[in-house]
Amino acid sequence: MPTGLHVAVVGASGGIGRALLVHLLGRDAVARVYATTYSRALQRDASAGRVDESRLRTAVVDASDEHAVQMWLGGIEKLDWLINAVGLLHTDTHQPEKSIRQFDPEHFQTNMSINTLPSLLLAKHGEQLLKQSEAGVFATLSARVGSIEDNRLGGWVSYRASKAALNMALKCLAIEWQRSAKSLRVLSLHPGTTDTALSAPFQSGVPEGKLFSPEKTADLLLTQIEQAHAHPSGRFIDYAGEPIPW
Ligand SMILES: NC(=O)c1ccc[n+]([C@@H]2O[C@H](COP(=O)([O-])OP(=O)(O)OC[C@H]3O[C@@H](n4cnc5c(N)ncnc54)[C@H](OP(=O)(O)O)[C@@H]3O)[C@@H](O)[C@H]2O)c1
Repeated sequence: MPTGLHVAVVGASGGIGRALLVHLLGRDAVARVYATTYSRALQRDASAGRVDESRLRTAVVDASDEHAVQMWLGGIEKLDWLINAVGLLHTDTHQPEKSIRQFDPEHFQTNMSINTLPSLLLAKHGEQLLKQSEAGVFATLSARVGSIEDNRLGGWVSYRASKAALNMALKCLAIEWQRSAKSLRVLSLHPGTTDTALSAPFQSGVPEGKLFSPEKTADLLLTQIEQAHAHPSGRFIDYAGEPIPW
């Protein structure tokens, strides 16, 4: 693994994002972590004494707002890994659809704004930074349910569609950057069902041993990110590195 890494975690107030942040700050190879939050503050208490916060720079960024993304990335001088852990599955008023009868255009737009748009904005405004790194990785947390080929159950149409659109965007970026930024790797990562606010209403049917702690998920995902340069760019993989059909 290279050393002196500068890493950005977008969505570090989330269950998986925060665990990624704590893991990164615990690694000697990481020199600086840029972490963003949105509506929630970063929880620092549980990590007190475990992490070196002198390497941490935090910012409040709406990742769906181009100006906010541009301003934040414009203030960063060096970046090796950009990890997008932003996402949305349900809100106070909307659960994922069981049927098309529950489809609400506004909720669909919210899914696209939070699950799809941020990676495109981060790519647009982070490209020049990441291209300068020999160890560059652009990783986004997607979801297995965004796989079109793997979809056997239907339902959750807004979330599935927004993650499928995200995957298409990541595939396009990988192809474009293969030509213009050969050392940059694009990853679409399925974290596995992880015990966070996002999955909380849907955990009852998860088989024994298949509900990961955020710490376990973060450790597994960082292993995949560390190994990204051993593989071609533009892979859709799970936490164990197993390919998922697009
Ligand atoms: N947990 C799972 O089982 C699971 C399974 C498959 C895929 N995933 C994917 O993994 C990712 C992380 O999920 P999680 O479980 O950690 O979810 P989470 O705990 O609900 O965290 C979601 C994060 O997204 C951020 N966010 C939402 N809207 C934003 C915006 N407009 N701008 C910036 N940040 C915004 C939140 O920030 P604030 O809280 O500060 O607003 C929070 O940091 C998501 O993409 C999710 O789809 C999760």
